[in-house]
Order: sequence, then structure tokens, then C-alpha cells
Amino acid sequence: MAMISASILNGDLAHLADTALTVAQSGADMLHYDVMDGCFVDNLSFGLPVLTSLRPCTALPIDVHLMIRDPLRYVGRFVEAGADLLSFHIESESDAAETLRAIQERGIPAGIALSPDTPAEAVSPLLPLLREQDFILAMTVHPGLGGQAFLPQVLPKIRQLRAMMQDAGCTAHIEVDGGINAETGRQCREAGADYLVAGSYLLAAENPAEAVQSLRG
Ligand code: DX5
Ligand code: ZN
Repeated sequence: MAMISASILNGDLAHLADTALTVAQSGADMLHYDVMDGCFVDNLSFGLPVLTSLRPCTALPIDVHLMIRDPLRYVGRFVEAGADLLSFHIESESDAAETLRAIQERGIPAGIALSPDTPAEAVSPLLPLLREQDFILAMTVHPGLGGQAFLPQVLPKIRQLRAMMQDAGCTAHIEVDGGINAETGRQCREAGADYLVAGSYLLAAENPAEAVQSLRG
């Protein structure tokens, strides 16, 4: 059964605590928090002070996805602000192995994110460094905006990642993010994903609890 991480990016940002409550009541397992710096991606979202304010508003683990140019520089600060899981992009300027280690040393699950055009092979050298609680985040849209259409060309990459991980004896998770709904979520689960991020599908649903159930499989 897949774990569901609800992205609040397209929620009511003037009432984040209410959005966090909606997410918790939906039965989602985690709250997905998208950090964008206007450099790595064109968009700007929210950063450290908003995370600090949001942290006491929810008991759910906060799954922080850094879409920023130099994630290594911010690892300590995001963990202190309340990140329970922390992912960064392999395409960023930080050294990936060093960033991974910095997150792992702080005792939380670490994720390596791949944009849609980045091949699965890019993570090969890092697979031996991943622990069971860590994850690879395969973006199923181009990072930067919520509410985009799912890119089906990422499905073979998810299958490839799962096969590479199996061969390497790597028991980490695969998270997918972007354009996830009941149908695309099923396709991703079948391809080997076990953490599903969903934003607009959940928050726009009349019944978010049913939407979460439809994603679990
Ligand atoms: C995109 C973000 C996603 C986004 C998902 O850059 O990383 O987490 O919020 O939103 P939906 O589910 O609407 O595509
Ligand atoms: Zn995200």
C-alpha cells in the first residue's frame, strides 16, 4: 500500500493551518512542502519562516522538497525548522553525495529528486549510499508549479529505477510527484513507486479522504 504525501502548494496559503488540518483529516500520511528559490526553478514559494510557523500546526510528518540551487547550504536550517523528510535535486549545484550525507547525519530520511529529463542512471553511483528509509523522488512534471499534467514518459524510468535498486540491493523508496490522481497514481504504483505526492487532486476533491483512498491501491 502506497504512502500518500499531500502537497499544500496549491492550497489556501493565507490559511495554511486550515489546509494542514484538511490534509490530516483526509488520512494522508505526510504533508509535502515545496520550497522554490526563483533560481533552480522560476517560481518562488515558501521557505524557512513559513515552515517554522506551520510545524506546530500539524502532527503529520512534513516531507520537504527543496527545488533550490544550493540545497547543501540549507540542510541544517530546514531540519531545525521541522522537516521530517528532506529531498533535494540531483541537478542542483550542491554535491549530491555530500548533501545526502548531511541529511542522513541529521537522522531523517533523505530523498534524491530527479527532474523528468534526468536519466535514471544519474543516481547509480548514489544507490549504495541510500538507507531503507531514504527515497528517490521521480518528478512526473517539470518542477516549479502545481496543477500540471502528468508526464507518462517518466513511467519507464520508474520501472528502470526499481530494477536498478533491486540489482544494487537497495531497499529505499520511490516517491513520485506531479499530476498524480487515481489513474496516474495507479500507473506509478504498478511501475514501482510507493510514496505518492498529490496536490491539486487532493485539495480540489469534494471528499479528500476518498481521494486519499483512491491513491493507496
Ligand atoms: C511541483 C511540486 C509538486 C506539486 C504537486 O514542482 O514539486 O509537489 O505541488 O502538485 P500537483 O499534484 O497539483 O501536480
Ligand atoms: Zn514537490
